[in-house]
Amino acid sequence: MKLGSPKSMSAYPKTILPIAASVGGLALFLIFASVLLVYQPIGSKVSGYFYKVDQAPKIELLSSNNESTVVENWVSDTDKKRTTVDSSTNKTVNLDTDKTVGLDTSETVNVDTNKIVGSDTSDTVNLDTNKTIEIVTNKTIDIGISKAADSVPKKIADSECDLYQGKWVLDPAGPLYSNNSCPVLTQMQNCQGNGRPDKDYENYRWKPTKCNLPRFDPKKYLELMRGKTLAYVGDSVARNQMESMLCILWQAEVPINRGNKRMQRYYFRSTSTTVIRIWSSWLVHKTTESFDFAPEGVDKLHLDVPDETFMGDVPTFDVLVLSSGHWFAKRSVYILNNEIVGGQLWWPDSSRKKKIDSTEAFEISVATIMSALVTNPDYKGLTVVRSYSPDHYEGGTWNTGGSCTGKTKPAVDGELVESGFTNTMHAKQIAGFNRGIKNKTNKSRVALMDITKPFSYRYDGHPGPYRSLDPNKITKRSADGRPPPQDCLHWCMPGPVDTWNEFLMETIRRDFEAHDS
Ligand SMILES: *[C@@H]1O[C@H](CO)[C@@H](O)[C@H](O)[C@H]1NC(C)=O
Ligand SMILES: *[C@@H]1O[C@H](CO)[C@@H](O)[C@H](O)[C@H]1NC(C)=O
Ligand SMILES: *[C@@H]1O[C@H](CO)[C@@H](O)[C@H](O)[C@H]1NC(C)=O
Ligand SMILES: *[C@@H]1O[C@H](CO)[C@@H](O)[C@H](O)[C@H]1NC(C)=O
Ligand SMILES: *[C@@H]1O[C@H](CO)[C@@H](O)[C@H](O)[C@H]1NC(C)=O
Ligand SMILES: *[C@@H]1O[C@H](CO)[C@@H](O)[C@H](O)[C@H]1NC(C)=O
Ligand SMILES: *[C@@H]1O[C@H](CO)[C@@H](O)[C@H](O)[C@H]1NC(C)=O
Repeated sequence: MKLGSPKSMSAYPKTILPIAASVGGLALFLIFASVLLVYQPIGSKVSGYFYKVDQAPKIELLSSNNESTVVENWVSDTDKKRTTVDSSTNKTVNLDTDKTVGLDTSETVNVDTNKIVGSDTSDTVNLDTNKTIEIVTNKTIDIGISKAADSVPKKIADSECDLYQGKWVLDPAGPLYSNNSCPVLTQMQNCQGNGRPDKDYENYRWKPTKCNLPRFDPKKYLELMRGKTLAYVGDSVARNQMESMLCILWQAEVPINRGNKRMQRYYFRSTSTTVIRIWSSWLVHKTTESFDFAPEGVDKLHLDVPDETFMGDVPTFDVLVLSSGHWFAKRSVYILNNEIVGGQLWWPDSSRKKKIDSTEAFEISVATIMSALVTNPDYKGLTVVRSYSPDHYEGGTWNTGGSCTGKTKPAVDGELVESGFTNTMHAKQIAGFNRGIKNKTNKSRVALMDITKPFSYRYDGHPGPYRSLDPNKITKRSADGRPPPQDCLHWCMPGPVDTWNEFLMETIRRDFEAHDS
């Protein structure tokens, strides 16, 4: 297979080198973080609802290589970066300039102009005013997805409105549910229930520059998905998004739990709509038995073979949302064409050369799964790839001072800390996506939900120290200045993750409309 050949990979090192240290450091920190976070048992309150599909035996922390020094380097790099970007904290963005943009003046983003809101001043306000005016004049007050309301702007929105270009604005309407109105909210993500003192992070909504992202209407979703099945497949971040969807839909109808050990499954009677989640850490075939020079026990990822644990279910899905990436920082061996081509936190000795690194492995896995889906003759659904979810451990890792404590509102541009690792993972994912869909046929339907940039601003949206109910949990720095253990990877609920489902609903709506006509 061409994808993994040494030749094709020789193009990468140039771009990889400057961030090589970060990648290495992040690898170790993510290993720690994921043992801490990914495997955390689901809160006792919801254990009756959820089968613990996610809980696998813990992997040991590897100390084989000299990673600690890499971590130190990464930490100091980050610190350097932070001091240079942390300058312009009270930049204000006058939202008035955006008024013309609104498709829908009734749903206002009625924002106090003194507040620090929008995240992206450089964002172009260079709009085609003719079109905007046309939309505004005929837009009905209904902000939902009703076809009547959207029929006029539809063509324009579909062809010209990039949902992922925009900014975060305060929304007086508040969140779609509360920690008290969603009984399936995992305790780890129940930030309010876990004592988080601030609440503003629940009240921002995403405002695309050229259109509106409709507020999620659960009844309209159920109607749109009448008789249909939505499946989330992937890692713990997939679970985060799936639970957000359940919490939102729960406000309209309490579903029936029809899950089993292998999949979470909820059924909404009113419209025969199903929501499913299946765990798949890497989305590709995994084995543990020994292979060539890799011993038994270490996970072997066959990067050119899709994960069979869910591929059999795929024909029953109408919409499939894929979530992966973070597990590529975990220990595993990469196999391509029946040959070991690399390893993450596992490698016998330096006399053997790795042909690919973890980020390249990620790219190949995405290409593999996308190609398998678009060429599956029995699958007619819409495949949505949710792009890499940025984490926000700043100033170090979770155990070396990394923190997202004290962030109570989205970052503005001057505060944004770019993560080289996140950017690389994002780029690899997009490359893999594009390569995989080259194999698409007439009936293939794919979409990229490109949330990485918008969510890089949401360092306020993570549980941080408020990831458990434990009243004695440490939420303050210790005497030696170390911050408490933090989850700066998953997202609070309610919180910014709910926006992913608004993106998803809009993506589904556009796709269905395009295929209806
Ligand atoms: C750590 O690095 C040193 C030299 O850089 C090397 O001699 C040593 O074997 C390494 N340790 C491990 C566990 O790889
Ligand atoms: C900017 O923030 C600082 C500290 O938060 C504050 O003292 C100052 O008045 C602010 N400047 C403006 C223009 O709001
Ligand atoms: C608006 O439309 C007029 C005439 O159709 C055109 O000349 C003008 O350039 C348009 N303005 C913009 C901003 O596109
Ligand atoms: C907007 O709607 C009104 C009727 O509500 C109609 O008369 C008018 O032609 C429409 N304008 C455009 C630009 O479609
Ligand atoms: C929800 O959060 C509030 C604090 O905002 C807390 O008092 C309450 O106990 C929480 N409820 C649940 C079910 O977690
Ligand atoms: C696309 O299809 C070709 C022909 O079947 C195959 O060789 C190639 O590996 C596929 N691409 C990916 C990314 O799987
Ligand atoms: C693909 O679409 C074209 C035009 O819509 C059609 O002529 C062709 O038969 C289709 N191919 C397949 C394999 O369905």
